[in-house]
Amino acid sequence: MLREKTVSERNCASGSVRRVVGLMSGTSVDGVDAAVVELSGNAESTELGRVIFERIPYSPELRGKVLALMLPETSRVDDICRMNFVLGEVFADATLQVIRAAGLEADDIDLIGSHGQTIYHIPNAETCCGITTRSTLQIGEPAIIAERTGITTVADFRMRDVAAGGQGAPLVPYADYILLRDAEKSRVIQNIGGIGNLTLLPAGCSLDEVIAFDTGPGNMVIDAVVSIITCGELEFDESGKIAASGNVVPDLLDWALSHPFFRKAPPKTTGREEFGSHFTKEMVERAQAEGISDCDLVATATALTAESIVESYKKWVLPNCKLDQVVIGGGGSYNGALIDMLRKGLPEVDVMVHEDLGISSDAKEAIAFAILANDAVCGCFTNVPKATGARHGVVLGKIIPSLSRECEDS
Ligand SMILES: Nc1ncnc2c1ncn2[C@@H]1O[C@H](COP(=O)(O)OP(=O)(O)O)[C@@H](O)[C@H]1O
Ligand SMILES: [Mg+2]
Repeated sequence: MLREKTVSERNCASGSVRRVVGLMSGTSVDGVDAAVVELSGNAESTELGRVIFERIPYSPELRGKVLALMLPETSRVDDICRMNFVLGEVFADATLQVIRAAGLEADDIDLIGSHGQTIYHIPNAETCCGITTRSTLQIGEPAIIAERTGITTVADFRMRDVAAGGQGAPLVPYADYILLRDAEKSRVIQNIGGIGNLTLLPAGCSLDEVIAFDTGPGNMVIDAVVSIITCGELEFDESGKIAASGNVVPDLLDWALSHPFFRKAPPKTTGREEFGSHFTKEMVERAQAEGISDCDLVATATALTAESIVESYKKWVLPNCKLDQVVIGGGGSYNGALIDMLRKGLPEVDVMVHEDLGISSDAKEAIAFAILANDAVCGCFTNVPKATGARHGVVLGKIIPSLSRECEDS
């Protein structure tokens, strides 16, 4: 039994279309992904309708401040306190912007699902004050979002999974299962955001059979290397042009792939704590010591992402499943050099993008949090325990009601 029935679930099952705003800001810290998503039903019976998507980029100042929060050396508790509310306002503005873009008003929206901005993630249990726990922290205060928009807001999706013994991540595999499972074909949905993560949907699978884990860095190391070699002028390798003009340096690639994360068996998740500025700094220093050119360094950082993905499939996917399709998503799907490397590493598999299956790759994660919010108010279990390591299924998300609107109505 994967979900329990509640009064709200019975209401949700009525089949009426609900408009839900999904908000996501990933580890790349490039901006807020916001989508108005029309949904009916819930859980496995969810039907996806119209999607209107906007990406609202962060200003360089805001991005810098958020990135500073993520590093213990540069993070301050007063900044965390302040930025929780600043990002709450940013997410509220993004919500109102995407609602306008959809030609709608706040009153037309039933619900918001906001992932927030992860600023720290400790997926492996640690003992502190005699208490052993994992932990994770997303900011972007949902009370601000609910107050500014007058819309019930669901947020803090990761906490309940951690409480149930999980890593609190990955969460998108639930939406992958709802949207992209197939009766005939076995698919991997490969997201390449700041971090890379995969969801394996074996042909005809049930939710219990979904496998998902982080493969390692997605764009995170590529972005950081590009920023260092261009003295901050470029934030990423547009279309993978720099990587395509360089050659992969095997010794440097071997060093990068020797990171212990790649040897760990799933379930596993990672973040800037492992592949952030410390890792990149060492990689750049090694490249400089060896006289490696900038283009070769970017090519090698790109190969790190590609190789870690291909190796993950070889170790943990292909031995158990004949794979038909790999469906790429996230910003990395625009990096031609990276996609070429993946195609070469997986010659037997059809490598495609979300658009080939009728889903916007840009909007997919925002859609995922709209689905999670919809199922939260319906009382459905939405974690994938096999992927997060949780002891059991749980309803993810804390619900901030739109009190002002309900008071007006009564
Ligand atoms: N045109 C492009 N060419 C190459 N890389 C791109 C392009 N557009 C976006 N990206 C990469 O995608 C990243 C953002 O991906 P995204 O899926 O939003 O990640 P996250 O979920 O971590 O925010 C950017 O930081 C950049 O590295
Ligand atoms: Mg992003």
